[in-house]
Amino acid sequence: METPQSDSLVFFGASGDLAYKQIFPALLGLVCDEGCNVPIVGVAKSGWKDDDLKARAKSSIESHGGADPAKLARLLDRLRYVDGDYGDPGTFAALKQTLGRAKRPLHYLAIPPSLFGVVVDALAASGLNVDARLVVEKPFGHDRESAKALNRTLHQHFPEEAIFRIDHYLGKEPVQSIVYTRFANAPFESLWNRNYVRSIQITMAEAFGVDDRGSFYDATGALRDVVQNHMLQVLANVMMDPPTGEDHESMRDQKAALLKAVKPLDAASIVRGQYRGYRQVKGVKPNSTVETYVAIKLSVDSWRWAGVPIYIRAGKCLPLTAAEVTVEYKPPPRATFGDEEGAPPSYMRLRISPDVGVAIGLRVKHPGEGMTGESVELTLSERAGSLIPPYQRLLGDAMRGNDELFGREDSIDAQWRIVQPILANPPPAQEYAPGTWGPEAAQALIGSDGPWRNPKPAKTE
Ligand code: BG6
Repeated sequence: METPQSDSLVFFGASGDLAYKQIFPALLGLVCDEGCNVPIVGVAKSGWKDDDLKARAKSSIESHGGADPAKLARLLDRLRYVDGDYGDPGTFAALKQTLGRAKRPLHYLAIPPSLFGVVVDALAASGLNVDARLVVEKPFGHDRESAKALNRTLHQHFPEEAIFRIDHYLGKEPVQSIVYTRFANAPFESLWNRNYVRSIQITMAEAFGVDDRGSFYDATGALRDVVQNHMLQVLANVMMDPPTGEDHESMRDQKAALLKAVKPLDAASIVRGQYRGYRQVKGVKPNSTVETYVAIKLSVDSWRWAGVPIYIRAGKCLPLTAAEVTVEYKPPPRATFGDEEGAPPSYMRLRISPDVGVAIGLRVKHPGEGMTGESVELTLSERAGSLIPPYQRLLGDAMRGNDELFGREDSIDAQWRIVQPILANPPPAQEYAPGTWGPEAAQALIGSDGPWRNPKPAKTE
């Protein structure tokens, strides 16, 4: 069900990094491609005026490849700036005045989580929460308890249907493509269960390090940064049951049901790694034990998935940047031709980044007299990248009140529940050399369910 369009967009953290890297380009797309014509107000405490915000927006757009001057002007025309401390009621009085006749604002908190409560209270104190929507940036909590506490804080002033928790992975075209491929094709769906699936692997590899995010990352680590949120949401899209009915909550119901059925991690099912040189990054503690790599083994306690091992790994300073899912099928129940034993399994590969693709791996007969085979991969679709940047898709959806691609309270709680035992008691992180596929112990974790499937570079790279 879609509700009335928000009639203004306010983003807190207007002078920050996220605004520069993601929000301005998303706003350009919303204004120029999607006809968004509401006032857009940036709030920060940088001593700026409207023109400084516009200059920052222009610089951001230029750093993303630039834009046609007429299009850029359309965005800049809409931008207004409010300066002030988030703890000062005067900031919110000024915001209210700038919003003028707008009655249904969307407030986007692109600020550190420690400020969420302060801003939400101040919005409510000035009546700016009435008929408003709230978009909350990640990380949503630091563990299960803090996420619950954050929900309590937000719910004091905003009902659940007005809260949009961002996980930008859900706004990615290829993640949508996974859901489409699954539910638009009956044959795949009928093979998508423990009778046919041998294992599921998800890899999110990044060739770069922590760079200038040392202090954020050292308080976070790979498990919280990308597994608890992005990877588990991908997993839910890959493994959930088909949605039923026309209720827009159906998809989120199925994802939540899947996540609630994932068994919590234990110490024997995780390998943590830290790349050599991480401790020298600015903002990182010299004796840090935070992981920059994690590999985990999960299982889902359901009729559909009982006994199917799931492997997820994510890390910085790996050999390349790519994310993909591989669903491996079981071998035929008996060897008809004799060469099946030890042959690579059939599989389906869902490429998430940097390019988008769906491929199937099969055995086909090798030409010649003998009944022997070879492994081939059939590419069903392959595209260079996403058409709509995730932040544009998500902010546009939130403005329309469509929450399907946002984290629901119960799903996020289920995601924290899965990783919580490890957060409380993490095994040691093992050092790995930058440019490798992480600690050796990850091979032992996957064991005979392996090998790990290392994504290949994009063809355009
Ligand atoms: C962010 C993490 O949420 O996702 C980063 O904080 C990570 O550490 C990034 O690099 C990956 O997202 P994308 O869209 O760049 O693949």
